[in-house]
Amino acid sequence: MINEELDNRLKYLRGLQTYDFTDYNDIIRLHLNESPFSPSERVIKRIVEVAREGNRYPNPERVEMFKVLAGRYCGVKSENVIPTPGGDGAIRLIVNNLLRRGEKAVVNFPSYSMYSVYSSVKELRLTKVNLIEENYTWRADTDALVNSVRDAKVTFIDDPNNPTGAKIFGGKEEEIREILETTNGLVVVDEAYHEFAGYSVTRLVDKYDNLIVIRTFSKAFGMAGFRVGYLVTNENITNALRKATTPFDVSAPSLEGAIEALLDPSYALENATIISKIRSNFTEKLRRAGFKVYDSVTNFILIKDARDLKSLLFSHGIAIRRVNDGLYRISIGTNEQIEKVEDVLLNSI
Ligand SMILES: Cc1ncc(COP(=O)(O)O)c(C=O)c1O
Repeated sequence: MINEELDNRLKYLRGLQTYDFTDYNDIIRLHLNESPFSPSERVIKRIVEVAREGNRYPNPERVEMFKVLAGRYCGVKSENVIPTPGGDGAIRLIVNNLLRRGEKAVVNFPSYSMYSVYSSVKELRLTKVNLIEENYTWRADTDALVNSVRDAKVTFIDDPNNPTGAKIFGGKEEEIREILETTNGLVVVDEAYHEFAGYSVTRLVDKYDNLIVIRTFSKAFGMAGFRVGYLVTNENITNALRKATTPFDVSAPSLEGAIEALLDPSYALENATIISKIRSNFTEKLRRAGFKVYDSVTNFILIKDARDLKSLLFSHGIAIRRVNDGLYRISIGTNEQIEKVEDVLLNSI
């Protein structure tokens, strides 16, 4: 017999909204902001090597190596870094260990959906602050945000923002300072798209006791399937969070692949440059044809359109994401893939 407390908890979880995991094969995948490029050859080679040692647990010394390289990549010390199973793993680590049921969480709206999902699972009180749409971009409603963060225990800010593709604070201290100094709660800046946008606030983690930055290998590094990322924060927080982690939380192939990727980040940075160029040309062509396309500093664009672009593109073998009524997000694929999208959008409607 299930006890009443457990039963209530199960009912609560069953009542939550399910994340939309719809996936498609044999189709051009532009719906998940993946990289169209596979991991670098040296990453693949290393992962194959490590697969042969799959009977062994990950080696803690390799975790240290990861932290040194990620720290160097971000301009911080290795002590500021904790590897996680993707950016999502970092969000879970924060929500599960640094927050308590009933506490207030603040997110921009729209923003990455997993902040709300994990906050709901933890039974946090969620407040959404609408981004302000302004011509071809979106910006944070700083006054509303400052007001809202005052009694928050955590504030999630994806910068650049998903799904708008907009810069929020753009890595500038003077822009984010008011938020960091108004709240006693944590401020989580999610830099999943950092390599495309080029800016960061990692240099501030030792200056503010409440700042945590999230990074991932899922986007520019083309390693979404390996589920590896990390968080960057002050040692006070990393030392505490280490009690809630083991060196085994990221699998050995993922950890070793990420180490190899960090030994030569130029592969990811060059791919980010290629993707950004494709995005700029794509945006320009669509705008010339009369589409409302927002400015983006990421590997995707957001389009406002009253027509059903998702079904239209799907009927041509292309998957994109419908974000909301009249808002469609298209990840940037290879040149050929984007030419197909252009062909449909410019010639079929
Ligand atoms: C803003 C943001 N953060 C985190 C993630 C999650 O990435 P990961 O694959 O590292 O869990 C995504 C993925 O789309 C994202 O858009």
